[in-house]
Amino acid sequence: MRNKVTKAIFPVAGMGTRFLPATKSVPKEIMTLVDRPLVQYAIDEARAAGIKEFIFVTSRGKGALEDYFDHAPQLEQELRRKGKDDLLEILKSTNMDSGEIAYIRQHRALGLGHAVWCARRLIHNEPFAVILPDDVIAAETPCLQQMVEAYEETGGNMVAAMEVPAEKTSSYGILDVEQDMGTMVSVKGMVEKPEKGSAPSNLAVIGRYILSPTVFRTLNKMKSGAGGEIQLTDAIAQEIGVEGSGVYGYRFRGQRFDCGSKSGFLQATVAFGLARDDLKADLEAYLHEIMSTRKAAE
Ligand code: UTP
Repeated sequence: MRNKVTKAIFPVAGMGTRFLPATKSVPKEIMTLVDRPLVQYAIDEARAAGIKEFIFVTSRGKGALEDYFDHAPQLEQELRRKGKDDLLEILKSTNMDSGEIAYIRQHRALGLGHAVWCARRLIHNEPFAVILPDDVIAAETPCLQQMVEAYEETGGNMVAAMEVPAEKTSSYGILDVEQDMGTMVSVKGMVEKPEKGSAPSNLAVIGRYILSPTVFRTLNKMKSGAGGEIQLTDAIAQEIGVEGSGVYGYRFRGQRFDCGSKSGFLQATVAFGLARDDLKADLEAYLHEIMSTRKAAE
């Protein structure tokens, strides 16, 4: 029997410079898609996949993130007093149990690989998930759940993968595919942000991973990679060919939004708004109106 994946690391220590000046005081992960912060989508996805322990790698200025996960007794009392049971339920659904959540500091933003390494003492000899909350994935079956189910068959290491246009490959970690089995590919190499024209495929790594604890052996001794940062993809690539391990790319079913970028965030806002029964009609009418006004002006 394979070890179950019950721990997830959420690296949220990046500086979020693409959202300055907002991120001067608001952590990127607290920014809201409709009415839920990005981090709530990540937590919900992890829970659906069977995660029981949530490990956040944070940094200076992320206090609002920790506060978000605290219970809010005064607010709950007030809502109860006013009989606002629906809001009370929403609020309660975000509560975390004592001991479920842990915070580790990454003192310097040395890269995603380094952020994951910072959590090494909370992971024992067991596989674990990594979720980047700024990659939001809308899916019928949540992405990590799809991966956990596939992982039960394969073991090893698994990364979420998605086809991207050739001109975008230099923004991603790209898989060098050994065998394409459809939903799954086995991987013989990984390149972080390959130079234009040199990408081994157009299959990009997206922010969901299930990793073997042996990846820490590599992270323990890693120097910097692409962009001067300690890259997680470089460490995972070292697992290729390790006996009983291996690396798989998983083509998830769902739509991914890059909420770390402004345009991705706006697109997600529209898509999640349109998916809501209480907002759909108004939003649709508004979008229709501005598009027809623009067309008429052209
Ligand atoms: P990004 O590459 O999006 O960087 O990190 P960033 O700092 O968050 O944003 P920009 O590029 O300055 O706008 C991808 C993920 O890795 C985490 C980030 O918090 C984000 O979830 N990360 C990155 C860390 O936790 N530590 C790091 O040193 C780097």
